[in-house]
Amino acid sequence: MPDASNDSSHHPATHVPTHVAVIMDGNGRWAKARGLPRTAGHKKGVDAVRRTVEAARELGIGYLTIFSFSSENWRRPEEEVSDLMQLLRFYLRSEIAELHRGGVRLRVIGDRTRLSKDIVQLIEKAEALTDGNRALTLVVALSYGSRQEIAQAARRLAEEVWKGQRDPASIDEDALEARLFTADIPDPDLIVRTSGEKRISNFLLWQAAYSEFVFLDTLWPDFGKRDLEAAIEEFHRRERRFGAIAESR
Ligand code: IPE
Ligand code: IPE
Ligand code: MG
Repeated sequence: MPDASNDSSHHPATHVPTHVAVIMDGNGRWAKARGLPRTAGHKKGVDAVRRTVEAARELGIGYLTIFSFSSENWRRPEEEVSDLMQLLRFYLRSEIAELHRGGVRLRVIGDRTRLSKDIVQLIEKAEALTDGNRALTLVVALSYGSRQEIAQAARRLAEEVWKGQRDPASIDEDALEARLFTADIPDPDLIVRTSGEKRISNFLLWQAAYSEFVFLDTLWPDFGKRDLEAAIEEFHRRERRFGAIAESR
């Protein structure tokens, strides 16, 4: 029999989760273990992003969301925040052409009001350029906090009611969902977190209602296609019931 261990084509397309979200954690610990500054870990983390986007495309995943910077990460030392923003500028400038060639559509979710103007412009340009691409949607969660996202959705609904545009009785799950950053993005099937931490850290709280979670000890800079495949294999072993009773099989 042919060895299928390094061949991803044995995954039937129907079994590939539509949406995989990743909490990319452990850059700091990766650097610390090598006696390097934290920024060195973040730089290596960018290489892991590149590998993961490529792997997601090869595996036929429809949506890949990566948690790049949380609302709470603004509390880190100014120098680390500015290094991370510099890396982001670098990524946006150097990778967009390549992503576009590969048919990747870029979407950025999060609070843009806290980002520098030049970064917002780079994001807008990249989103406009790649908007028609369909091979993979790469969703970058940046300055993103799920509680803030839900609160702003509630605020918008309240404003609509206040202006007389909406009856409070019409506020349901769909109405709130339509006001989240992820309005036109399906909920994640699988959420992977690296670095051994087992928490959600204010990521996609609403959207993760029925997501499967896979926690890996791998530190983010070491993450690659094999880890993504391992997480997907674990996902395949889970039985998703969505509150109903298992189908007999
Ligand atoms: C993840 O790595 C990257 C960001 C949160 C920006 P960390 O920087 O959190 O790395 P650790 O958790 O300190 O190892
Ligand atoms: C979560 O990682 C945010 C990102 C991966 C961008 P953190 O390292 O910030 O999370 P906590 O502080 O350990 O919960
Ligand atoms: Mg961390």
